[in-house]
Formats: sequence, C-alpha cells, structure tokens
Amino acid sequence: MSWLTEIARPEIRALRAYEHAVWEPGLVRLHANESPWRSHADPSLEGLNRYPEPHPHQLTAALAELYGVPADRVLAGRGSDEAIDLLIRCYCRAGQDAVVVCPPTFGMYSVAARIQGAIVREAPLLPQAGFQLDAAALQALAGDAPAAAGTLKLVFLCSPNNPTGNRLDSAVILALARALEGRALLVVDEAYVEFAQAPSLVAQLAERPGLVVLRTLSKAHGLAGARCGVAIAHPEVIALLRKVIQPYAITQLTIEAVFAALQPEARARAAQRIATLQRERTRVAAALQTLPGVQRVWPSDANFLLVQFADAGAALERARAAGLLLRDLRGSGTLGQALRISVGSPEQNDRLLAALKGAA
Ligand SMILES: Cc1ncc(COP(=O)(O)O)c(C=O)c1O
Repeated sequence: MSWLTEIARPEIRALRAYEHAVWEPGLVRLHANESPWRSHADPSLEGLNRYPEPHPHQLTAALAELYGVPADRVLAGRGSDEAIDLLIRCYCRAGQDAVVVCPPTFGMYSVAARIQGAIVREAPLLPQAGFQLDAAALQALAGDAPAAAGTLKLVFLCSPNNPTGNRLDSAVILALARALEGRALLVVDEAYVEFAQAPSLVAQLAERPGLVVLRTLSKAHGLAGARCGVAIAHPEVIALLRKVIQPYAITQLTIEAVFAALQPEARARAAQRIATLQRERTRVAAALQTLPGVQRVWPSDANFLLVQFADAGAALERARAAGLLLRDLRGSGTLGQALRISVGSPEQNDRLLAALKGAA
C-alpha cells in the first residue's frame, strides 16, 4: 500500500465493497431476482431484463485501448462527473480535508466538494495571462497550511479549461504534480482535449503516480446522453474508486452505445467531426470578432468560445429569439459581460452569427 491509499479516507480504506451477484453470462441467471422475459419495448442487444455486468470488463478494456493505457488504470463511470464525485468521496473527510480549484472553471469540482463537506480553496486563473495557472499561488496552497485550511487532498485543473477554452501550461501542471507527490492527487480534467492540438497528459501517468486524468465520451464522441466518462489513474487509486462506485453503474444501453462508438468507422467519423468543429471554431471566432457588440473572443482549444460582449443580456435575447441558447456567465465572478458559446454545426453557427449581427 502506497501513499495513494494512505491519504484516502480511513472508512474507505477499511470498506469491504458490496458483493454483487456472480457474473457468469454463460449460465441461466436464477440468482439475481430478474425477470426471465425482455420488456416489450426493450431496444437493447443483450436484454434490459438482466442487470448489466457489475464492473464491465470488456468496456473497461475497450476504453483502456482508446486512451492507450492498461485496463487496471481505468474506471468508467456515469460521465466524468461521477469520477469527480468518487475522487472527493474517497479522499476527503468532511470538515477536515480540502480541495483546490482554479476559477473560473467547471463548477462540479467545488459543488461535489461542498456536498461532501470538504473545504474548498481557490487559486484563480490569471486573466491577464490568458487564464493560465497562478503557479506561485498553487505552490503556496500545496505547501504547509494552517489547520483551518484543511489537509489538502485533491487539486482540480481543467485543460482545456471550461469556460475559458485555453489549455493550461503542462510544464506548470507537471511541476505541481511533483510538488504534491506523497500528499495530494492532481486531477486534470481533459474533457475537451480532443479539440486541442496537444497531447493528453495520460502519457505522464507512469511517471507521476499522483496524477489522475479525466476523459469523457460526452464531447468528442457525441455520447453526452449515454453518460460515460473515465478516471485514468494509478491502479491503487482506481481500486479505491471501484470500491465506492455503485455496482451496475453503467447501464446495458450505455455499454452498447459505447461499444458502437468505439468501432473503427465510428471513430473515423468522430475524427472528421472534430476537424469540422475546429474549422468552425476558427470561422465563428473570426466572424464574431467583427461584430460591433463583441468586445473580445478568447482563443479556444475546446468546442466552445468564451466571448465578451458590450451587453451580454442583449446578445442572449437575440440568440434566444432565433431559437438558440447560450451560456450566461455574468454571474460567475470575474468574467463580466461574458457568454460561452458552443460551436455548433455550420448551419447552427450561421444562424447564430445572423442573430448576433447588430447586437449592441
Ligand atoms: C470540464 C468538464 N468536465 C466534466 C464535464 C462533465 O462531463 P461528463 O458528461 O463526462 O460528466 C464537463 C461537462 O460539461 C466539463 O465541461
């Protein structure tokens, strides 16, 4: 047992995971109180009358192949949202342990931490440096802190970051991983990395045992409705998360949808769509920049753009009148009159640009 297990909550270290019904698909299942008949409206290949595989091995192996890592480094959950929640539940004692987040960023890190009663500390990104990490502030938070600040267990980074769209400097990330070693995990959420021209940090996992990378099928693979995301980490971390995740978390329909999405033809199609979205991102950013009501379009490595308007409310209204929803970021701290706009299909983007023309 290494420090990766030692810093987890003692209750989780001691926990005996739930013993689910034996999984032997070749035998008739009279051991799990299921229906012997499929429902009338069952669209699945295998049958929804049966529980799915409790911890789906073939799915895990396929995801490990997709991300280029051994299967014992992978845990699939209901979106990367579930991985975030599991990490916090495994590592943070209420009122005693802390996580660090770097706002403006994806809100689930601090929400999941607060639900668990963990202390949330902040090292805001630096707008004047294109929303890069404040390396000095992070190193300070990673150092010794007063007891009231909690024992640091998890640092959450998001690269490319939601909602700012930029990639974080990987040299700073890796230096932080080194500084945290032996004390806290560094979680890098790469939900949007497929849209960036940069490698995933997954390649660094063998050298950095405290690094956890989150990936998802919700964005580049077009499966947000199926709910499948992945934590990729040292096998000891994966073993802890596996104790806590619900058995049967991944539904049979999701398992089948993911297998279909990982077939070579579907992967080739996903790659084409990523290329289309990257081209559209450049086109939409350039066109937005010429609109009188737009003050700034931030560079993006993701499938969305962070846009500063003179009057974000007016832009929201114009978009809504054209049947388009944009994400209002005016309430989120330091971003001012900002909206986050997902890059859509070329037709949707044309509609957006037409709607925003003339927005004050
Ligand atoms: C940065 C980031 N991480 C994670 C998620 C959640 O993804 P999933 O659908 O895999 O739960 C999102 C969703 O928007 C996100 O923006």
